[in-house]
Formats: sequence, structure tokens, C-alpha cells
Amino acid sequence: MPIVESPVIAYTGQAFYLRTAHTAYVIGLTEHGGLLHRYFGPVLSRAEDYPTPNWGIVDASGEYPTPTGMWQVAPCIRVVFHDNVRDLRLRYQGHEISASGDELAIRLHDEHYGLEVTLCYHVYADCDVIARQVRLRNTGADAIDVEEVMSASFSLPYDRGGEFRLNHFAGAWMKEKTLGRQVVTPGQKVLQSWTNSTSHQQNPFFAIDVIDAEGNGATEEHGEIWFGQVHWSGNWKIVVEQLRGHHKITRVAAGLNDLDCILHLAPGEDFTTPLVTLGYTDGGFGAMSRLLHRYQRAHILPRNHADELRPVLYNSWEAVMFDVSEDAQARMAEKAAQLGVELFVIDDGWFGARNTDNAGLGDWYPNPEKFPNGLNPLIDRVNALGMDFGIWVEPEMVNPDSDLYRAHPDWVYHFPTRESTLLRTQLMLNFAREDVREYIFNSLDTLLSEHNIRYIKWDFNRTISEPGWPEAPRERQREMWVRHYEGLYGILDRLRARHPQVLFESCAGGGGRVDLGAFTHYDDCWTSDNSDPYDRLFIQRSFMLAYTAKVMRCWVTETSMHEGASYSLAFRFHSAFMGSLGLGGNLLHFSEEEMAEMARNVALYKELRPLIQHGEMYRLIPLSRMDRIAVEYVDPQGSEALVLAFGTQENFWENPVRLCLRGLDPQALYRLEGDLDEGQPESMSGQALMHRGILPRLYGHIASALIRVRKA
Ligand code: GLA
Repeated sequence: MPIVESPVIAYTGQAFYLRTAHTAYVIGLTEHGGLLHRYFGPVLSRAEDYPTPNWGIVDASGEYPTPTGMWQVAPCIRVVFHDNVRDLRLRYQGHEISASGDELAIRLHDEHYGLEVTLCYHVYADCDVIARQVRLRNTGADAIDVEEVMSASFSLPYDRGGEFRLNHFAGAWMKEKTLGRQVVTPGQKVLQSWTNSTSHQQNPFFAIDVIDAEGNGATEEHGEIWFGQVHWSGNWKIVVEQLRGHHKITRVAAGLNDLDCILHLAPGEDFTTPLVTLGYTDGGFGAMSRLLHRYQRAHILPRNHADELRPVLYNSWEAVMFDVSEDAQARMAEKAAQLGVELFVIDDGWFGARNTDNAGLGDWYPNPEKFPNGLNPLIDRVNALGMDFGIWVEPEMVNPDSDLYRAHPDWVYHFPTRESTLLRTQLMLNFAREDVREYIFNSLDTLLSEHNIRYIKWDFNRTISEPGWPEAPRERQREMWVRHYEGLYGILDRLRARHPQVLFESCAGGGGRVDLGAFTHYDDCWTSDNSDPYDRLFIQRSFMLAYTAKVMRCWVTETSMHEGASYSLAFRFHSAFMGSLGLGGNLLHFSEEEMAEMARNVALYKELRPLIQHGEMYRLIPLSRMDRIAVEYVDPQGSEALVLAFGTQENFWENPVRLCLRGLDPQALYRLEGDLDEGQPESMSGQALMHRGILPRLYGHIASALIRVRKA
């Protein structure tokens, strides 16, 4: 663990210094009570060496720009006071440093109107990141409408030689987390979602590296990167803005999406934004990923299950879809138990009048034809086989053909004069409403109280349309974007408190709800509905750029998305070994031999699981390469490592790829075991493994290798 000199936060009268193990973040306080962003980068040994913006860029260097005076950069906050004034003048009022020494709250104030804006910083020194948010409080006598309020902003070093490059995720359903990369040019680049979900198309994560004069950006091991994540599963926004005048100024702001959202602050009312985590490293993309993984495991994932290894699960969806019933599932459970599965999850189809996706959402009680005696007989059989039981729900949705909708047609988002748009024959429940929240909480609380359920797969299968909340007072109607997620997170908090034994999985048609807001409330996620083991390699590799393997659910199934493709069981397992293992195929389709091979792989995974889920992950081949993928998981002491390598296309006469390992003890001797190429030694020193490397056995268009490395 890195050592941090105390204090983590210091105040000198002119500046606030925030320190992590390797980085410093400096905020200047001007004589007029304004806040300047001065520095975010490696720790410097002398406080005097931290830069102060020169006269040419002071206006553009606000720590939290407001629409005041000259509008030079995009503001982080926009408000309308009762008299229609939209000029916000914030001055420093005071600050508090928490007793623990790692939290800073800087209070700013618009004296005339009584709006208090508090910038909050939480320093996670061990992970080199700072989590930020903003608290608003109306201390005046009149209401204030908030049209935008971002959680954080900062400036990249100005007039730096070379260019900044933005790295982010793009994608679609079944093709989540494709890496997008482009040079930052003058103007704004906005990453965002307005679907009332995190979205498949974009993800609230950014990483900005530097392209030097020779055109080279950061690598896996070297180079400066500023990165961040928004902790929010609703509409979010990340703005990268560049101004080029006399100086080149590049800024980043992140937080809630202001699109269509207005928050009403009555006198005395307050509002706190979602968190945004920011970090810096000069150790390239690999170091960034490892910091984020460590941070998510140590500080983000729900505490009660954070240190536990995720169980190997079986899920019924791809095998039988909606056709779940007691006897058939019990037969499948017997097979799953033979394979060493620890958690048996029945997916969609078990509740209400659910036989297709046309009906039943909202009615969270067992379907009487499929489960005439309820769920408990099946759960008992699963438990008797030594497995825990899990179940699928989609609580924020309702089918018009459901008892819930027939009783409460006004419980969905809608505009009274407009026809509601159906997607997957379903509508979105209005989680801004207290009565809807209570109903859903009670349904799920009952389900969990009456059954021995240990895992909830919480799905979310449509984006929003007609975002109306006509029953709310006019000035509150456009708060629904934020209130929905207060409702969702609140229900999850209450369920977790009452049923601490339950693990929750975040799913939104696959990987549409993957963000730090989700991972504060869910223990893992369904990575993608695309479970083709070849396609998954690319999705999983980029997923781990920003998120830990521990939350990344990967199933071995029968699916292949490519005409004529057939994958060996070894390839399927190796692909799924990259994250938290699951099985998803119809287990009745496998031969005795295949079952035995699967059982061996499940047992192997259980042995390797501490490395994969809790180890440090290294990409041994850079993200840009499409024909080869290799990742290594190492325990923090460097005593054991696992290498998973994949050949994804082969050209005749192409040189094999030598893999130089990372994170080992150079002095120690290691034994090698697994899919090594001919002539590879059986043991090597850590130094040789890291400098000379090893050749995996990878031949053919689609190949995989698993290599174990253990201290002799
Ligand atoms: C979504 C999920 C799938 C499955 C189906 C059930 O698409 O991503 O894994 O649960 O819903 O309807």
C-alpha cells in the first residue's frame, strides 16, 4: 500500500492542497474570494512549485465556473432566481476539513440571493483518486430553479506541448464498451446519456492522455492520464471543452445531464449532486485501470459483500427463455450441481402471466401454472443440492397487460394528451412517486422475506419515452430524472438493509447499467446480452479498462453469433474466466464427456478466482491490437499469476507474440504450467518472465491459452 504523508488536506490561506499517494490537487483562493483550479498532477516537493494561472487564463480557470460577468467557459451551474436574474456570484465563505482529515467542504455563497454552494472533496489517498460532489442549499426567502449543476470540473495543464486525446466508451446493445479515441480539438465534445439509464451507447467514464510531438500517446505502462467516472445510472454528462486563443485551455466537467431537467429549491431546501471520481496517473492505461479496480473493490462496492468472492452461477435465460417451471428447472439444477455451480438463478418468466415479453411485468408473484405450489418447493430442491437460489426481476417496468397496470395506469411516466410509446411491450414506472416506490419495495421485500433467495438479477429493459409526471406540481415535474434514481437507490438501500444476505446484479438489456452509482448498490453486473465467447473478448477487455473483473459476469453458453463458428469448451471457459464465471447453456444438451470437462473447468475457476477477482490486472497486449488479447492477473504479493491469452485471427507466417509478464518478484523462481508453446521452459525467474517473456501456444484463427505461474 502506498504511503501518504499527512496531512492529506492542507489549507494555507491562499490555497487548498489535496494529496493522494502520488498526486496533488491544488485549489487557489483569490483575494476576492474566488476559487481557481491550479494543479492536478504528480506531487511536487515544494508547495511554491505548484503553478498559478497567469493573467491570460484566470477567467477560464475557475474551480467551478458560474455564469458571472464575462461568460468565458461553459458554466458548471445555472440557476434562475425568483426575479429572473441568472447571474450567479459565488464567494468563498468558509471551509471544513473532516476529523478523519480526508474530506474537504468549501462553502461558497451568493450573498444577495442566499444560495449556498458547497464543493465537497473526498480524498482516497490509497487509490490516487478524489471523489467530488456539490451541495446546494437555498438559505434565502424565495425559491430558486436550478437548470444545471455539475458535480466537478477541472482544467488540464495549459499550453502543454502535444495534444490531449479523449478515450471513452461507445457501443450498442450486444456491443457494449467499444473504445472511442479522438484528439481533443477546439469546441466541446459531450459524452452523455438522456435515456434515463447509463446507456449502452456511452458510459460515464473518460480518460485523457497526451499525444506527444511525435504522435505517440500513453501506453499500457507509461504516459500521463487524467480520468474520471460519474456515479450515476440516470442521465449523466461529461463535457470536454477546449478554447484556443493566446493560450490553449482544456477543461473537463462532469455530473448530471441538464437536458430537460430543472430542480426546484424552495427556501430551506437542499440538493446534493451525484459523486464524480477523478484521478491522475503517469503510469499509462494499465496503472489507471488498476487504480480504478482497487478503488471499486475497496471503496465503491457494497461493503457487506465487497470482500467475498463472487459465486459461480447458473442462469436459465439462454437455455429456456420464458419457459421456466418447477420440474424442468429442478432437472437443470441437478446438472448444475454436478458441475460445481454455487448459485442457481432462474431468469425471466416465473411471475404473473409471463409467457412472452407481452405480459406480467409488475406482478411479482409466482405464475400459478408454472409454480402451482409457489417457488419454495424449487428453492428447497436447489438448496438440497447445495446451491443458493437467485431470481430475475425488472422492478422499474410494467406491461400494460398486468394486474399492476390495470389497477394503476397513472403509475407510469406519461403525458396525458399523448399516447405512450411501448418498447418490448412495456412502460416505465414513475419511481419519482412515493406510492410507486412503496409498492415496489413491499413487493420485493415480501418476495425476499417469504423465500430463501440469495441473488437478485435486477433488469431494466427499455429507455424512456414521454417523461411526464403530470401529478406533480408544475415546478417539480422536470425533477423526475433525478427523483427516479433517488427512488431506485433508496429502494436498493432499504432492501439491502433488510436482506443483507442477498447479492444484487445490475442488468439493463445486458451492460446498459454499468457505472459507479450502480456499483454502490449492486454487487456485480450482466456485462452484455452478447455471450458469444469471441465477441465477449473485446467487450470484456475494454470493460476492464474502467471496471474491475469482479463485477463482470461472464457466462459459458451455447451461443455463437457468427455463422459457422464453433468454439471449443476450453475457449468458452477461457473467455469467461476473464471475470466472474457463470454458466448459461442448456445443460441437458451436453454429453457426459463435456459435462466432465465443464466440471473440471468450474473447479479450476474456483482455484483461480481469488487472483481474477481480487488480483491486479495487467493487459499484456495493448488495447489497440485486434488479433491478440492477453491479460494477466497477479496476487498483490506477486507470488502467483494467471495469464489468459487469445488469438483472434491468424495470418500465415505471422510471428508469435511473446508475452512479458508483470507484477512478479524479479528474484523469485516461478514454475509454469499450461498452454505454453513447444520448447518453453518449465520454470523461470520473475526477472526473465518480465523481460524475456513466454510464448503461449496459440495457433489458428480462434485460439486460447491458460498459463499458471507460481512461485517455486
Ligand atoms: C434482458 C437481459 C437478459 C435476460 C432478459 C430477460 O435482455 O439482459 O439477460 O434477463 O432480459 O427478459
